Order: sequence, then C-alpha cells, then structure tokens
Amino acid sequence: MLLNSHQSIISIDQLIHQLNSAKTVEQYNHILNSFNLNRATLRSYCSWDNCSYTRNIITRNPSYELLIICWQKSHSSAIHNHGKSQCWMSVIQGQIEEKRYETTPNNAQNQPTVSLKQIACHTHYPGKISTIKNHEIWHSLQALSPKAITLHLYSPPLHQFSIYDAEINSVRQQQYS
Ligand SMILES: [Fe+2]
Repeated sequence: MLLNSHQSIISIDQLIHQLNSAKTVEQYNHILNSFNLNRATLRSYCSWDNCSYTRNIITRNPSYELLIICWQKSHSSAIHNHGKSQCWMSVIQGQIEEKRYETTPNNAQNQPTVSLKQIACHTHYPGKISTIKNHEIWHSLQALSPKAITLHLYSPPLHQFSIYDAEINSVRQQQYS
C-alpha cells in the first residue's frame, strides 16, 4: 500500500516495500519525496574507496534499481546520460555538485562527434531530490565534501547508457549486466 502524505519512510526495507508497490513515475516521485532515511539503516550498504566513488546495489528488479553511491571529496563521475531510464538522486550525507549538459550531434568529417553545452550547475544537500526524466539531458556529479552518500533510483534499471569522452570529443556506450 502506498503512503499517504503524512507518513514518512525511515528504513531501506520500508523504502523497498513502497517502491515495489509503485507503478507510475508520479508514485516514484511521491515515495522519494516522503523518505527521511535513518542513516544507520544504510550503514551496511556503504563502502568508500580512496581512488573512486563506489556503486553499492541495494536491489534490482525488472521495474527499478536502487543503489547507494559513496564518494570521497573531489570524486566525480564522467559526463553521462541514463539511456532509457529515468533517474532520481537524493543526497543522504554531504554536498554534491551536479552539472547538466545538452549534446548536439556533429557528423562533420565522417567522424561522429558531439558538442556539449553546460546548461546548469547546482549544489545538492541532504533532503533534496534531483530528477532526470528527459533522455536528452546529460550530467556529471562531483562530491564537495568527504564521505558523501547519495541514493539513486533508476526506472527501468540502468542497462545501457552513454559516456562522454572529452579526449576524443565523442561518446561511448557503457553497459551494466
Ligand atoms: Fe547519472
């Protein structure tokens, strides 16, 4: 049963239970705006690495994928899109800078390259939800504080998406099995 507006989700088990009942984008929105997760409930999913952020899958099924990303200060993602998935991100701990981009294909010289234009830059804090529902929007994330934690929901699960490679001004496909 989905929550009414006065309830809030404090544990991962409650969050998964609610997500399993959701059928629409609006319901995912409602759920992600209703939670006030106790950080202790996340402890078993968190792991940090000094070299790079870590992706820690909580659950994955045909409808959605829920994961925790742990960042040290200055860790950053590549510029990427989300393929056919919609994406919700919530900062659980710390501060995360998000830059958003639009890309324009450029097929000059028989070389498929893209032009990238930054269209926004935001700093996200705990309690704020960032969503990407437009498949044309690309973004990159960077941790501004040590031991940052973000929670990510993708629906459907992230299978195939694209990464911008600045060195060759082009994109490459990435796949998660
Ligand atoms: Fe992303």
